[in-house]
Amino acid sequence: MAIERTFSIVKPDAVANNAIGGVLNLIEKGGLKIIASKMIHMSKKEAEGFYAVHKARPFFGDLTDFMSEGPCVVSVLEGENAIARYREVLGATNPEEADAGTVRKDFGTNIERNAAHGSDAPDTAAFEIGYFFNALEIKER
Ligand code: RTP
Ligand code: MG
Repeated sequence: MAIERTFSIVKPDAVANNAIGGVLNLIEKGGLKIIASKMIHMSKKEAEGFYAVHKARPFFGDLTDFMSEGPCVVSVLEGENAIARYREVLGATNPEEADAGTVRKDFGTNIERNAAHGSDAPDTAAFEIGYFFNALEIKER
């Protein structure tokens, strides 16, 4: 299996709920290495740029309000099959449907306020890492 990188956000709900450590702990316990990380606070426009793929979705306005309501912790994760692996660590989008021991089961509130984000494919991971991290913070592989 290939060593891959993926992108993570501890969303504003989890930061506000003092769950940064809890989420990062599940990431590390899940076998993923945090190779870059920082706290940021997106403007509405920056959240719209990040979630541009969801522009046509009915929840786009609420989602970008939520993602800009407070600070987030953005990270780059590395490991074997990291994209799929992190989605397993996160659990289902809706915390009610997430398996026990997953990030969204433990720290999510509802389908929107679901504690964390993970990239869904290599091209989105590359875009998302580049959206938040510069060459001083993360080296090309
Ligand atoms: P994410 O991108 O945040 O890792 O989540 P995901 O792939 O599991 O889900 P996605 O379909 O990409 O949706 C992105 C985020 O939008 C919010 N959402 N709200 N109100 C709704 O029905 C709804 N559906 C999705 C969630 O915050 C979801 O994580
Ligand atoms: Mg997604």
